[in-house]
Amino acid sequence: MRLPMIAGNWKMNTTVGEAVELVNEMRKELDTVDGVDKVICPPFVSLAVVRELIKGSSIMLGAQNMYFEEKGAYTGEISPVMLADLCEFVIIGHSERRQYFNETGEIINKKVQAALKVGLKPILCIGERLEENKAGRTKEVVTKQLSSALAKIDSLNGLIIAYEPVWAIGTGRAATGKQANDTIGLIRQTISQKYDKKIAQNLRILYGGSVTAENTAEFMQQPEIDGALVGGASLKANEFLSIVRQTSEIRAR
Ligand code: PGA
Repeated sequence: MRLPMIAGNWKMNTTVGEAVELVNEMRKELDTVDGVDKVICPPFVSLAVVRELIKGSSIMLGAQNMYFEEKGAYTGEISPVMLADLCEFVIIGHSERRQYFNETGEIINKKVQAALKVGLKPILCIGERLEENKAGRTKEVVTKQLSSALAKIDSLNGLIIAYEPVWAIGTGRAATGKQANDTIGLIRQTISQKYDKKIAQNLRILYGGSVTAENTAEFMQQPEIDGALVGGASLKANEFLSIVRQTSEIRAR
């Protein structure tokens, strides 16, 4: 049995003060929901303060990005070692990083390796763009992203994958439960072929892209989907709580 996970990706939102406010709004109730891993990923500048706020609770912390070098003259970058000291998870290869910051498969592969090396759990994002989806190239694209991101990586221990079709991110146009389930099934199959069946069966694969309190149930009822990476809806305490609660309830059945 794979424990479901709901991860909130706050993206470039919230000042430190707003992050504190948001955590305070949801911390107590979020802590009481079990049967699901709850992760919040605030901006770098709020990691330390949020870490203090959730100390002793069941809420876990993640970062949204990192550089692959451990330290040195890389002005403005944040290293895996710095993060390992602060949080447990790190989102890697988000489509916004690929699109606006030119992250290539090779860079993403280096980041995944560097995260695993220091014991950070990468949430690796993959997903096809609209034109690729329309051209029927989803399988080809996600398989390719997967194989470049995981090149030279033997152990997937700690890794989480998020399937996020680019056309569904921040658009209010989520995939259907079936679409997401099919592609995630395919990702699992690819992992099974590249590694082995047991690794694939144990790997958590999330769906991401316009997940809301309203459509959560549709995704969580699917057998291949192990949770969600939530953007916009994770900035509203009540909605995030509702997504987490529904996931816990549906998975407990
Ligand atoms: P969204 O973002 O839920 O706002 O679509 C998801 C993501 O980018 O991880």
